[in-house]
Amino acid sequence: MTTTVSNDTASLLPSVSSFLSSPRQLLIDGEWVDAQDGRTFATLNPATEEELVQVAQGSAADVDRAVAAARRAFEAGSPWARMTPRERSHLLWRIGDLVEAHADELAQLEALDNGKRVEAARDGDVATTAELFRYFAGWATKIEGTTIPMSVPGRDFHAYTRREPIGVVAGIVPWNFPLLMAAFKIIPAITAGNTVILKPAEQTPLTALRLGELLLEAGVPAGVVNVVPGFGDTGAALVDHHGVDKVAFTGSTEVGKKIAAAASGNLKKVSLELGGKAPNIIFDDADIDAAIAGAVLGGYFNEGQCCVNGSRLYVHRAVFDEVVEGVANAARAIRVGSGFDPSTDMGPLVSQEQHEKVLGYIRSALADGAEVTAGSADRVGERGYFVQPTLITSVTEDMAVQTDEIFGPVVTAIPFDSEDEVVAAANNTVYGLAAGVWSKDIGRAHRVGGRLRAGTVWLNTWHADDVTLPRGGFKQSGWGRELGAFGLDDYTELKTVIAELR
Ligand code: NAI
Ligand code: MG
Repeated sequence: MTTTVSNDTASLLPSVSSFLSSPRQLLIDGEWVDAQDGRTFATLNPATEEELVQVAQGSAADVDRAVAAARRAFEAGSPWARMTPRERSHLLWRIGDLVEAHADELAQLEALDNGKRVEAARDGDVATTAELFRYFAGWATKIEGTTIPMSVPGRDFHAYTRREPIGVVAGIVPWNFPLLMAAFKIIPAITAGNTVILKPAEQTPLTALRLGELLLEAGVPAGVVNVVPGFGDTGAALVDHHGVDKVAFTGSTEVGKKIAAAASGNLKKVSLELGGKAPNIIFDDADIDAAIAGAVLGGYFNEGQCCVNGSRLYVHRAVFDEVVEGVANAARAIRVGSGFDPSTDMGPLVSQEQHEKVLGYIRSALADGAEVTAGSADRVGERGYFVQPTLITSVTEDMAVQTDEIFGPVVTAIPFDSEDEVVAAANNTVYGLAAGVWSKDIGRAHRVGGRLRAGTVWLNTWHADDVTLPRGGFKQSGWGRELGAFGLDDYTELKTVIAELR
């Protein structure tokens, strides 16, 4: 087990050091302002547990100001409402270029605030964010309606539909992909002409705040995107606010349920991307090396803090020992350390809370009689929220480690004998975000994939992804779909116009 916890501040870009040199403010109505009550909170570096910088903490009063600004920016006659779709398209493309030009800086900020590897942040989170701006730049001019025939004897009509922006959108996001999740909310919303208040996660507010600066630099008009960091109460103030027309949330299923209930006050629209506990099914006719590599990537990607990770491994009994050994060996070889150390494979978890939660689940598995085949329930190192990637066997379906979303580098493995048995076990969860099947029998792969109750199904691959693809959850994994051609539907209202031709 290798653990290197170097806080490589020497390698920080001057722009990053400068961003961290003074308290960060809220972005409201195109201005950087303190919270009205002056409150701030610390955001930490999870590799060192040290404070990075103080950040203004939005209260209900700040939410009120931000909603008013977003409303003004949305209203007819505003610079934003007057912007043509083509102008919005060019603006989105410009932001994508700016994100790309600042890729190294954003990647360092993300790695400092979240703990992930700098390269992973740059090549994953930041690169995808830039591509998302460009992908949606194409959509801005293609938000179309249809003409629909009517059959009223003796009268003539022209009926058509329009897709119009919903209004003021609150985006509330988690800490696992801080910049990317901000992008998931802001981009489709503004592509369709909405205005936004973004509430970043309290653990990781920095890249959303830096993105706010880039949006202003690109020419996004005042009030169109507001960024109000804070804790759950700041998010709750947005969800309660009757000036908000829609909430787009990514986070825990528990908070998703609270949001669905609280949003009923003014029946604001709600889209939810919630938890997961994805089954990853390996048949005995699979390419076993590829399946092992997929199980490792699917299980441990992003320090295991990814809603579509394949945390429940189901392996055909004939290849169970071989697959478990392969995954365990790979897990043991993963080097855990600072996201700034180029030799690191896996950084720390995001927070002390997440660290305790994940280690607690590994301990609970041991207490329940399961076996820790790789990894451990002990913390790694003295400082920082490090966990060794863990594989748990001798698991039964009723154990907490098997039923709950852990959101850390913890994979369970259970053997199976038949297709029907494994499909039933895989679907035996309240979640339905992702699932996967490994089999060289093309009929079986598609057949089993079709029976899995999940919004994304990977066949002979894992985490293969593109900004063109819609994603979201069945069951308690959410409401609605994000990205792709479907991703705009949740950010528009459909209006039917009926004109009589007299
Ligand atoms: P969370 O769901 O509490 O937080 C996500 C966001 O919601 C944060 O911005 C938070 O400030 C905000 N929030 C919290 N309470 C709120 C409320 N009542 N109204 C409005 N906004 C509220 O997630 P947390 O506590 O960070 O993580 C807990 C667990 O949730 C994780 O261990 C993991 O299992 C799951 N999770 C799932 C994610 C996913 O992508 N599906 C992402 C993050 C966490
Ligand atoms: Mg932090």
